[in-house]
Amino acid sequence: MIKDAYGRELHDLRISVTDRCNFRCQFCMPEGQEYEFYPRSEILTFEEITRIVKISTRLGVKKVRITGGEPLLRRDIEKLIHMLSQIEGLEDISMTTNGFLLEQMAERLKDAGLRRITVSFHSLKDEVFSKIVGRSVKVSQIIKGIEASLKAGLHPVKVNVCVVKGLNDEEILPIAKFFKKMRVVVRFIEFMDVGNLNGWSLDKVVSAKEIVEIISKEFPIEPVEKNYRGEVADRYRYKDDGLEFGVISSITQPFCGDCNRLRLTADGKLLTCLFATQGYNIKTLLRNGAKDEDIEDFIKRVWYSRKDRYSEERLELIKRGEVPKKVEMFKVGG
Ligand code: GTP
Ligand code: 5AD
Ligand code: SF4
Ligand code: SF4
Repeated sequence: MIKDAYGRELHDLRISVTDRCNFRCQFCMPEGQEYEFYPRSEILTFEEITRIVKISTRLGVKKVRITGGEPLLRRDIEKLIHMLSQIEGLEDISMTTNGFLLEQMAERLKDAGLRRITVSFHSLKDEVFSKIVGRSVKVSQIIKGIEASLKAGLHPVKVNVCVVKGLNDEEILPIAKFFKKMRVVVRFIEFMDVGNLNGWSLDKVVSAKEIVEIISKEFPIEPVEKNYRGEVADRYRYKDDGLEFGVISSITQPFCGDCNRLRLTADGKLLTCLFATQGYNIKTLLRNGAKDEDIEDFIKRVWYSRKDRYSEERLELIKRGEVPKKVEMFKVGG
């Protein structure tokens, strides 16, 4: 177990396996921009990722989450999952996906050792969904992926909804109702200023409080204790059927105080915050033949000196006009 400069223990590792995506979501990778992707030679191999995870578990990492870009675009991703599933001490392997390729992948992922999955979801209407993701997508395609995940036993299946005023905020209640029926846990996320391209402004944020109010007008609900220290979502339970939903309030109620997440980019950099401005190159070390102890030492040093608390500083930085240039969301993996 290791602690950063503010006493926060390292617990989770989020691994981005590719910076490519088949969607162009407005709040992440808006269309109309030229994107540069890492060349193949710069991308960590499955062996390299597995080695980093193995060493990280010696330092207290218990959970990993596979992200992207879109992780299902990484060829043979189930092989990586299988390799990770063999690591002793790792308690949880999950994935965050846009769901487009999930229908045909869910069972393979489960068989390889994935425990659970989270699918990003934006709207119940094809037209709105497609507008948000910048591609022509049928909502039914994503639903089929969610159903396939339920069938494969990737429990709990969760759905993330990034709420943006004027885009999908009218659908908070319909989406809550829809997934309540399906018995899928929805988490509504406050629109965040990740990266530099998504045209974020405070007036496009629907607060977690407003979201909870909208749902509580229709259903009796009660708050639920966090599952573990550092859990990102605030959880609520519907009193009628016991199902839960969550809100992620990075803007209005930041949770940096308990942040225990380290991130690894597809090109082998460690990031200590979702809003990081730079990474720490672990790949060069790996490729120069470093011993496990050196790599362990590198991760330790990165974590020990960590002082990130961007979400707590955000409003002050904005006021002072000092928001730095951040790494883009599709490179960080959320
Ligand atoms: P669980 O393990 O199921 O609790 O998953 P999770 O909520 O940690 O992961 P997921 O990928 O579903 O993240 C949900 C949302 O929270 C995404 O939009 C993430 O970008 C955001 N998020 C995750 N970790 C952090 C964090 O450390 N800081 C901030 N500000 N947002 C985060
Ligand atoms: N604000 C909040 N959530 C976002 N996501 C992508 N961009 C943003 C943003 N700007 C969501 C995705 C995915 C998760 C990793 O983050 O929809 O579910
Ligand atoms: Fe792709 Fe996810 Fe970004 Fe959308 S939010 S563009 S699905 S990486
Ligand atoms: Fe952690 Fe950075 Fe998110 Fe704060 S803003 S919770 S430090 S990732």
